Amino acid sequence: MNLSVQIGKLALQNPVMTASGTFGYGAEYAELIDLNQLGAVVVKGICLSPVRGNPTPRTVEVASGLINAIGLQGPGVDGFIKKHWPFLKALNVPTIINIWGTTVEEYAEVARRFNALGGVGALELNVSCPNIKAGGAQFGTDLKLLGQVVAACRRETKLPLITKMSPNVVSIAPYAKAAEEAGSDALSITNSYPAMAIDIETRRPKLANVTGGLTGPCIKPIAIKLVWEAAQAVKIPVIGMGGIQTAADAIEFMMAGATAVAVGTANFYEPQTCLNVIAGIREFMQRHGMEDVRELIKSVRVAK
Ligand SMILES: Cc1cc2nc3c(=O)[nH]c(=O)nc-3n(C[C@H](O)[C@H](O)[C@H](O)COP(=O)(O)O)c2cc1C
Repeated sequence: MNLSVQIGKLALQNPVMTASGTFGYGAEYAELIDLNQLGAVVVKGICLSPVRGNPTPRTVEVASGLINAIGLQGPGVDGFIKKHWPFLKALNVPTIINIWGTTVEEYAEVARRFNALGGVGALELNVSCPNIKAGGAQFGTDLKLLGQVVAACRRETKLPLITKMSPNVVSIAPYAKAAEEAGSDALSITNSYPAMAIDIETRRPKLANVTGGLTGPCIKPIAIKLVWEAAQAVKIPVIGMGGIQTAADAIEFMMAGATAVAVGTANFYEPQTCLNVIAGIREFMQRHGMEDVRELIKSVRVAK
């Protein structure tokens, strides 16, 4: 049975990876699961300098989901390379580094630094974070800026580039095409949705940041639709994510058009989720007499 898939020139032993920001820098989960069984480890977003993040509370549970406003806390490029890279580079599975910046030049500089590092599996450009006021959101929701940021990173690196799309657009197809035309090797869909929750007794927002990004099972059907639309608009592979808890969820994303999938929020309450999803995909393939996981991709039957 073949579970391997290809994201640009990056080969994955199976299509299941972690979603950025929900799996730390890998080491945090090393005692809980065998990381070498994953398709890839995707780490928390990194920018040029260290970032403290937002004040607490930074997460709140809502019906079938989570709202977070972490504020892209991170050690910066140097801190990441010193503290986290030695562990990650020793793994047998690729590391995908999620990167962000507040200007096109900053993105490009981070891409250049990781290109020079050697051994990185791919870069994922977070152009869609709704939590940072200084940047992020406008890159992913402005066709021109999106093209500029992808092209600027493309000039700095030969590493596979994955553009993580913003869901906050009326139609995702033109944005997917803009990222492809600017040189992206793949798209990841989707990031979180802007959201807010209020404590009605105190009349205060539940998050110190007031608003945050909604993730988890409640966003899955919306994410499936975005993946389906984007996968028809571009030739490059799509990595699907949003509320994946089970193999059935992952298979649904693949049928909609995803070549690979990422597990996010579910890691917080069931660290085994990625491994359960991989086992469940195998079981599904066996039950349906499938030899190659790629048979699942874009296999939804839509009457024309
Ligand atoms: C606590 C938290 C932190 C996140 N941090 C990042 C991040 O740094 N960069 C990024 O591109 N996405 C980040 N995300 C978004 C996830 O990678 C993923 O796109 C989203 O959670 C949808 O998947 P899920 O519903 O399975 O969680 C974060 C999500 C959560 C819940």
